[in-house]
Amino acid sequence: MTLQDKLSQYKTEGRAILAANFYNYETLAGILKAAKELDEPVILQLSESSINYLGLEVAAKLARAGLSQFGVEGWLHLDHGASPELALRCLDAGFDSVMIDGSEKPFEENIRITRKVVEMARSFGANVEAELGFIAKLGQDEDIDGFTKPEQARDFVAQTGINALAVAIGTAHGFYKQEPKLDLERLSQINAITPVPLVLHGGSGIPDEMLRNAIKRGIVKVNLATDSKNAFMKELKNVLFNSDEIDLRKTFPPAIDAVKKLIINKMQLVSMK
Ligand code: 13P
Repeated sequence: MTLQDKLSQYKTEGRAILAANFYNYETLAGILKAAKELDEPVILQLSESSINYLGLEVAAKLARAGLSQFGVEGWLHLDHGASPELALRCLDAGFDSVMIDGSEKPFEENIRITRKVVEMARSFGANVEAELGFIAKLGQDEDIDGFTKPEQARDFVAQTGINALAVAIGTAHGFYKQEPKLDLERLSQINAITPVPLVLHGGSGIPDEMLRNAIKRGIVKVNLATDSKNAFMKELKNVLFNSDEIDLRKTFPPAIDAVKKLIINKMQLVSMK
C-alpha cells in the first residue's frame, strides 16, 4: 500500500500514524521493535542532517532492510526537505515520501517549489508533504505567531496538489519551555475545508489528551523526534555512568529499549484504540 493510501484510510478511520525520526541503527531498531510488538505501521523519517550523518545510500538501505528484517509495514520519508534538489535525491534513493518545506518563504514561492516537487514525485508514485505557517524549528522563537490560515491552507492544497499538509497550530520542534497551547478550533476549521490529511510537527512533549484531541480534529500523521533522542541519550548516559563496559553491543541495548518503550506508548496513543 502506498503511504498516500494509508494516510487516506486513517483519515477516514479517525486515527493517526506515528512518523518517527531515526538517527542511527540503534534508534531505528527501537522504533521497529515497537512497531513489531504492536503490529503497527510506521513512517521512518530522516532529516537532512541525519542523511548527511549516515550518508543517503546507507540511510535509505538501512531503513528498508530494517523494515524487512523486522517484518514491519512502513515508509521512508524525507523530513523538512529544504529544496526540490534534495527531494529528488531522496526519491532517486528510493524514498516513499518527501516533505518540501517552503514554510519560511513567501506564500507564492512556497507554492512554486511545492508544486515542482509534486510534479517530480508523480513519476515515482511518491507521497508529498508540505508546510504552511510557522512551526518553530530548533533554536527559533516559538512565540512568533504564524498560525496556518484556513483559507490559505485550502488554496495552497488546491494549487499544489500535495498529499498531506503540515499545519502550524501552536506546536514547536524540540523541548517546550511550557505546556503548549494548541489552537484546536483553527485545526477543525482547516480540516473542514482542506481535503488532505493533516500533519502535526513537534509531537514531543504534547500531553496525551491534547494529542488525542488533535487527532479527533484531523491530524493523521504525528511527527516525533526529540522525545526519542532524549529517551535514548538519557538511558545511554545512565549505562555509561554506571559501568566500565566497552562492548558497545552490551551498552546500547538498554538505550534501544528506552526508545522502544517510548514509541510503544506513542503508537498506542495515535492509533486511538
Ligand atoms: P519534535 O522533535 O518536537 O518531536 O518534532 C519532530 C518533528 O516535527 C520532525 O519534523
